[in-house]
Amino acid sequence: MTEFSLPRKGSDVIVDPFGRAVTYLRVSVTDRCDFRCTYCMGENMTFLPKADLLSLEELDRLCSAFVRRGVRKLRITGGEPLVRRDIMTLFRSLSRHLEAGALDELTVTTNGSQLARLAHELYDCGVRRINVSLDTLDAEKFRAITRWGSLDKVLAGIDAAQAAGLKVKINAVALKGFNEDELAAMIRWAHGRDMDITFIEVMPLGEIEGQRADQYLPLSEVRTRLAQEFTLEDIPYRTGGPARYVSAKETGGRIGFITPLTHNFCESCNRVRLTCTGTLFMCLGQEDAADLRKPLRASESDEVLMQAIDEAISRKPRGHDFVIDRRTRQPAVGRHMSVTGG
Ligand code: GTP
Ligand code: 5AD
Ligand code: SF4
Repeated sequence: MTEFSLPRKGSDVIVDPFGRAVTYLRVSVTDRCDFRCTYCMGENMTFLPKADLLSLEELDRLCSAFVRRGVRKLRITGGEPLVRRDIMTLFRSLSRHLEAGALDELTVTTNGSQLARLAHELYDCGVRRINVSLDTLDAEKFRAITRWGSLDKVLAGIDAAQAAGLKVKINAVALKGFNEDELAAMIRWAHGRDMDITFIEVMPLGEIEGQRADQYLPLSEVRTRLAQEFTLEDIPYRTGGPARYVSAKETGGRIGFITPLTHNFCESCNRVRLTCTGTLFMCLGQEDAADLRKPLRASESDEVLMQAIDEAISRKPRGHDFVIDRRTRQPAVGRHMSVTGG
């Protein structure tokens, strides 16, 4: 079992007002994506103008500042991070922190569409474990939920990742009336290929067509149903993320549950999120944010930037206020998941 949340003794770690050490930075390198998952995005999205993006060098400088402040785990997200041009340059340069022992893990959350092309290079940059988002194994349903995606391409990407030596975890959003009957089969498939699988409750982030209340499936229900097919046992395995794991006796594999709605895990939150424009979100479920681009560009030394980071973390809220019900029409926060990468 690996535990990332404990900072190393003596490092200059950032601690928030609730005593939580911030040791995990998620970095959304682009808000663009080659899919349009119906629970994530509207069909017609307006993306940021390319001119607003931080350069890869600037992203590296920001990430490195956080590493100096005790961040031990970096996750590159999007949108779809692997569609950003030259993104491997960023992985390559960040890998120096792994080599130096300043970072425990450099990893990525991806929709898998580019993995056939990039898996080897990711491994070469020190990435060892990746999360692939996949909500169904049915090609037609896959096309319907992603609007633009191809299941075959993603499956080929997963093959390539495993062949390259990357450990793959599957993330599936549990969606009422969509994949609820398929979850047991997805578990068997994932475990049969030596992959963990994690289910996620849909969160009210950003406007979409249709109602989230129609999609929301509480994982407490899912677990009860799965317990009729599998012998589930709570296990203490942790990856530094919010998932809580059980083992399934029949398959010998692990199933994770990410339950922002049915079981709030904010008290153990160890992360903040940086967007591709240098905005720092201290919580996935709140609007408050801090601009780090200005202090980054203000001077070549990192002093102003470090102050801005400290000031931002001093505003990290206790947690989110997500609710999904038929009376609440507005999403809890206006931005889509693709802005902050989950
Ligand atoms: P590992 O545990 O390292 O595998 O990763 P993780 O679970 O932190 O990352 P992953 O990208 O797999 O996250 C999966 C999803 O969990 C995200 O896309 C979000 O939907 C959700 N999630 C991750 N962190 C948080 C969080 O702090 N708050 C909430 N509400 N949801 C989160
Ligand atoms: N609620 C929960 N998960 C979401 N994702 C995207 N939008 C939402 C949402 N509104 C998931 C994706 C992917 C990860 C980055 O976030 O499926 O697994
Ligand atoms: Fe793209 Fe991921 Fe959003 Fe789907 S969930 S549209 S793959 S960013």
